[in-house]
Amino acid sequence: MSGKRHLLAPEQAVSRARHESRNAHAGAALLLTGLPAAGKSTLAQALHARLFERGARSLVLDGDALRGGLCRDLGFSEAERQENLRRAGEVAALLVESGVIVILALIAPLASQRALLAGRLGDDYREIWCRASLEACERRDPKGHYALARRGTLAGFTGISAPYEPPAAPDLVLDCESRPVEENVTWLLRWLGECGVLRADD
Ligand SMILES: Nc1ncnc2c1ncn2[C@@H]1O[C@H](COP(=O)(O)OP(=O)(O)OP(=O)(O)O)[C@@H](O)[C@H]1O
Ligand SMILES: [Mg+2]
Repeated sequence: MSGKRHLLAPEQAVSRARHESRNAHAGAALLLTGLPAAGKSTLAQALHARLFERGARSLVLDGDALRGGLCRDLGFSEAERQENLRRAGEVAALLVESGVIVILALIAPLASQRALLAGRLGDDYREIWCRASLEACERRDPKGHYALARRGTLAGFTGISAPYEPPAAPDLVLDCESRPVEENVTWLLRWLGECGVLRADD
């Protein structure tokens, strides 16, 4: 820990403002939070594709991908979920400084965990609740995890044997149960224009 005293992050040769000016959009960190199978990854990829088509710079940080690499040493205890989110937040913060729209597709089940992420990312943080009922998510169950959790073979599974606290004051709520993915993406893009991340006339 004491080595930290000797750290000095270099001044960035290209400022965030210059990145944003070239990109013609702002950097931002969009947390897509919701139950397993709510559709976070599906929505994140669809949004990423639409942003790419219009020339925006975006990147998806997906829970499963992170857990396969950067966070592969972490399990699913509350402390480890917290650390998982902390790392995602640190990566997102670096990218946002380069003007990237970072789409975080993460369950982020607890309000306290999301609050830490919000604290780290400040005004760049936007919380988007991918709302779908537990029943709908369990019916979908694309990975078969709900079935395993019900059988008791998957411990600490969010929604079944671990809590999911719905966001109390999200910036945006998307109906991921009955509204088609593309409609939600269109909605999201319009909203990103309204809140100044994308140029309104773009
Ligand atoms: N309206 C909808 N919005 C999003 N996904 C939907 C919708 N209707 C059906 N789906 C389906 O629900 C599933 C959602 O899976 P997805 O992997 O995106 O969820 P997730 O929230 O990322 O889950 P996990 O937390 O396990 O990673 C997909 O198979 C998707 O096609
Ligand atoms: Mg996912």
